[in-house]
Amino acid sequence: MRVRPSSGLRGRVRVPGDKSISHRAALLGALGEGTTRIDGFLESEDCLATLQCLSLLGTSVRRLAPGSYEIHGRGRDGFEEPLDVLDCGNSGTTMRLLIGILASQPVFSVLTGDGSLRGRPMGRVIEPLREMGARIYGRAGDTKAPLAVLGASCLQGKTHRLPVASAQVKSALLLAGLRSKGVTAVTEPARSRNHTEVMLQQLGVPVRVDGLTVAVEGGTLPRGGEISVPGDISSAAYLMVAAAILPDSDITIANVGINSTRAGIIHALLSMGADLQIEPLPGKGEPKANIRIRTSPLRGTEIGGPIVPTLIDELPVIAAAAAFAEGTTVVRDAAELRVKECDRITAMAQELGRLGVDIKETADGWVIRGGASLSGGRVSGRGDHRVVMALTVLGLAMSSPVEIEQAEAVSISFPDFAATLRELGAEIEERATDLRDPQAT
Ligand code: S3P
Repeated sequence: MRVRPSSGLRGRVRVPGDKSISHRAALLGALGEGTTRIDGFLESEDCLATLQCLSLLGTSVRRLAPGSYEIHGRGRDGFEEPLDVLDCGNSGTTMRLLIGILASQPVFSVLTGDGSLRGRPMGRVIEPLREMGARIYGRAGDTKAPLAVLGASCLQGKTHRLPVASAQVKSALLLAGLRSKGVTAVTEPARSRNHTEVMLQQLGVPVRVDGLTVAVEGGTLPRGGEISVPGDISSAAYLMVAAAILPDSDITIANVGINSTRAGIIHALLSMGADLQIEPLPGKGEPKANIRIRTSPLRGTEIGGPIVPTLIDELPVIAAAAAFAEGTTVVRDAAELRVKECDRITAMAQELGRLGVDIKETADGWVIRGGASLSGGRVSGRGDHRVVMALTVLGLAMSSPVEIEQAEAVSISFPDFAATLRELGAEIEERATDLRDPQAT
């Protein structure tokens, strides 16, 4: 991706469907009874990997139109034993949620993924599931994929206390709990995104929420329904920061999900002095809004504590914003960034550092001093969609061009990222890597 200095972003756009909600709509639809109709489904590599796995498990998935799907739930019959390995690609959500679902279905399955996913910690899901009676085995002492799941027809519900806030772990346990005996409860140290809880309730499964504890009782499966997926606030965040820092910009992003467990980026940008207007939209289910953002001078901020899980995927782009803010930005309590699609703490510190940003890596975040003089150059997106998009936003605001390698990873969550920015007036070119070019690798 070649990014040129740009200004004056203008217009009204939509961002693609929310990644977390799209995964859950497909998984709960397949797990439940009856037919589920999904609109606004994110057709990106991650979510398509989920659909592919569900098809291998015998689920009928029909594409009615772009982003519109009909899923026939397997219900009480459960999944078919897959004839092949379930390839979760780059998607942690696919793998972790599926482990929970498959642990409590009487089929044998093997799950794998790409190099990044095979390096990510799975023990955090496997250990608590084993306490419920699950049989799951894997590489590195049963902590890494490839994984083999010897499903059981019924697990024993249990109360879990998670050491780190994780929506994927919480969701895996709750989904296993749907086909377990008794109550499965999960207590987190801070609130993580609650899309699973919201959707289960929407599909008729009672969920008890008490402070930081959520619980389900085994025996009730989701029933079919209609799910409308809002735009992904994590994708919108990149456009929001671009408009905030590029001179003379004024954009509106329509129909964005603003669930409070995901909306930390709004609070962070407001605390940096961003000019943001939120126009809530009527409707049931997940809350949505149109978001307008205009250029304004930004100042440094401090981010840490319970807000972190609500903006964890947005921290790379907040780091980019901090490079253009006056004063210092401190991000702490975000060690989880080290086990995302890549070690995002080191990746961002090194790549922003290459462009001249004054950024210091700490054990659990960064210290970034804004206003350093920056120069263009070549950086690597490290094959991580959020790193690529953060570097793109930063590149647009520099005075000379930036070339980003391994940028094709944007297709994980926002395949039309460059096209959407171009529609708003940014200058970005994408070109395929010529592997014969020694500079290209
Ligand atoms: C996700 C939860 C988050 C987030 C990830 C998607 C989900 O991870 O970083 O991109 O869909 O549940 P945690 O499991 O660490 O909360």
